Amino acid sequence: MSKITLRKIKFTDKKYFTRWWRDEELLKLTSGVLELISDKDVEKYFLAMIKSSVDHHFIILLDKNVIGHISLIKKKASWYETQIIIGEKQYWGKGFGTKAIQLLLKKAKSLNISKIYLEVRPTNIRAFKSYENSGFVKTEIKEYPENKYLPQTLRMELET
Ligand SMILES: CC(C)(COP(=O)(O)OP(=O)(O)OC[C@H]1O[C@@H](n2cnc3c(N)ncnc32)[C@H](O)[C@@H]1OP(=O)(O)O)[C@@H](O)C(=O)NCCC(=O)NCCS
Repeated sequence: MSKITLRKIKFTDKKYFTRWWRDEELLKLTSGVLELISDKDVEKYFLAMIKSSVDHHFIILLDKNVIGHISLIKKKASWYETQIIIGEKQYWGKGFGTKAIQLLLKKAKSLNISKIYLEVRPTNIRAFKSYENSGFVKTEIKEYPENKYLPQTLRMELET
């Protein structure tokens, strides 16, 4: 049976992000910013991720294959924001995202992180359901009228 695991991000993973951050379908579900990201910016954002001493970035593996990325980003007052993408789209809708979130919650526990939230597009039902099935609860509708790419999100929280 196929197995999902998480491992720490490493330098050689940049090639996956270069592809995922240029995938229009993925961008429409996440940042909404469809302008082509430059090689220089990919390098900048990737290095920021890999060098961070406070955030936690994990690669999602299906058996030995890289299929996505999941993270815990340090925010104010001991809250962490989580973000997930399964970049290899043929693996959507097979329960792997939900499994990766559940593994992340175990990692969070071992890191003594107990307050986790996320923001999701109200139209991203697949993501919303996988968060809800993992215990996240909708707490707020967030309006960003000045952000033309993502004017509204749902905030979901999990406190363990
Ligand atoms: C969001 C994401 C991580 C979910 O992981 P996944 O493995 O595809 O989802 P799962 O198979 O675990 O299924 C999640 C739920 O959505 C449901 N679902 C699956 N496909 C769906 C679809 N097309 N429309 C609506 N619901 C759907 C499933 O039935 C399941 O709910 P259920 O178990 O209550 O029936 C993954 O699809 C992804 O990375 N998408 C692109 C990036 C993205 O949207 N990231 C999140 C940004 S907030």
